[in-house]
Amino acid sequence: MASLSGTSDLHDAAVSKALYVETYGCQMNLADSEVIVGALASEGYRCVEEPEQADVILLNTCSIRDHAEQRVAQRVRQLIALRRDNRRVRIGLAGCVAQHRREKLLETIPGLDFVVGPDGYRRLGQLLAADEPVADVQLDRRETYEDIAPARGEGVRAWLTIMRGCNRFCTFCVVPYVRGRERSIATDVLIADLRRVAEQGYKEVTLLGQTVNAYRSGDVDFAGLLRLCNEVEGIERVRYTSPHPADMNERTIAAMGECAKVAPYIHLPVQSGSDAVLEAMDRGHTVAEYRDLVARLREAVPDLALSTDVIVGYPGETERDFEATSALMEEMAYDHAFLFKYSPREGTRAYGTPDTVSEEEKGARLERLIAEQEERALGINQRLVGTETEVLVESTAKRQPDWLAGKNPQFKTVVFEPSGARLGELARVRIEAASSHTLRGREKQ
Ligand code: 5AD
Ligand code: SF4
Repeated sequence: MASLSGTSDLHDAAVSKALYVETYGCQMNLADSEVIVGALASEGYRCVEEPEQADVILLNTCSIRDHAEQRVAQRVRQLIALRRDNRRVRIGLAGCVAQHRREKLLETIPGLDFVVGPDGYRRLGQLLAADEPVADVQLDRRETYEDIAPARGEGVRAWLTIMRGCNRFCTFCVVPYVRGRERSIATDVLIADLRRVAEQGYKEVTLLGQTVNAYRSGDVDFAGLLRLCNEVEGIERVRYTSPHPADMNERTIAAMGECAKVAPYIHLPVQSGSDAVLEAMDRGHTVAEYRDLVARLREAVPDLALSTDVIVGYPGETERDFEATSALMEEMAYDHAFLFKYSPREGTRAYGTPDTVSEEEKGARLERLIAEQEERALGINQRLVGTETEVLVESTAKRQPDWLAGKNPQFKTVVFEPSGARLGELARVRIEAASSHTLRGREKQ
């Protein structure tokens, strides 16, 4: 969860209304919260840091797994209970849970004032002006918010949403139902925005989309967009997330290899190392195709870092399927992995398929993959001790305020003893120690 504290200086605090936003889930949601704040800034709202200071409290929510949805339901009930009766504070849910559960939320959560899906943010001002509980959960296959300037937070890294929605309908996934069909944002709008982002001092951009590499606008495909972003002056690094393996092609691989600013890191969800499970999930590729894709990526980008998403306990996953996943993860030598227990989502194609793997077994499989991945990441990172890397400095180190922290090109967190580097700059760092999640070192003189 993240709270957004970017403020708008367009409006005098005396006349503006106070907005508090909490964001759950993926980077798309964080970027959407910036759109929400941007849209409401033009209606006279400014952000505050605490819910107690707010006239409007909005939770931008995630419904990818049941746990995420339960967490949000609990939090919104808590905020409603805390609302002082003598003040008119409007509390609402935005994003994927809003779209998934729709008007029903207004019945099941007494005191909730508004519900707004991912395509309704343009109309938030009207929703907030309503006297009664309201819902706007209309999906709109044309909505891209192209004309709304996101209120970006401070820092070195900016998000740029380049496409929205998903057409893939993997059997386990709620995203196509709550975010609607795939649509890309016009290239000229994106490049103009990226130039502005660079002028504002951001050094790194992360291109976002649910299947980000399915981007296409007119003649420009994802590879073409990467090449255009690579040309924007002031931007030092270009990243993207999340690509789908079946949407990857030679043009994109070549662009990654040839564009100096496109970072040598890819998050490439595999979900399972078993062809039977991939088929059941309708992922659109086999294990062999994934393996081949990674080999081609590594050939084009020799220092590539690789991460993935894996689901354990999908209905029908046998012990052998699971072993195949464990073996594939070892073979791929992932730098990092996001590991999940399968969570049935209402409305998806897999919903209703008997859950054949017990909760206990799912837990055991997850634990094993986590332990194996921790060990693997530790080994990979320890082999970096003694090498040099380049860090984009983004903050002081959490536990050592006289040290600095940032990401290297491979998106690994590096904390280091500085010798002159400042926030927002690139520093050469010699790695002296490594854990499974962090590299530690010293800036080169
Ligand atoms: N259960 C568990 N994990 C899921 N994911 C998506 N849907 C589900 C689900 N129903 C995971 C996938 C995806 C990541 C964003 O979340 O691994 O890549
Ligand atoms: Fe979900 Fe599959 Fe679309 Fe990814 S590609 S958002 S997993 S449906």
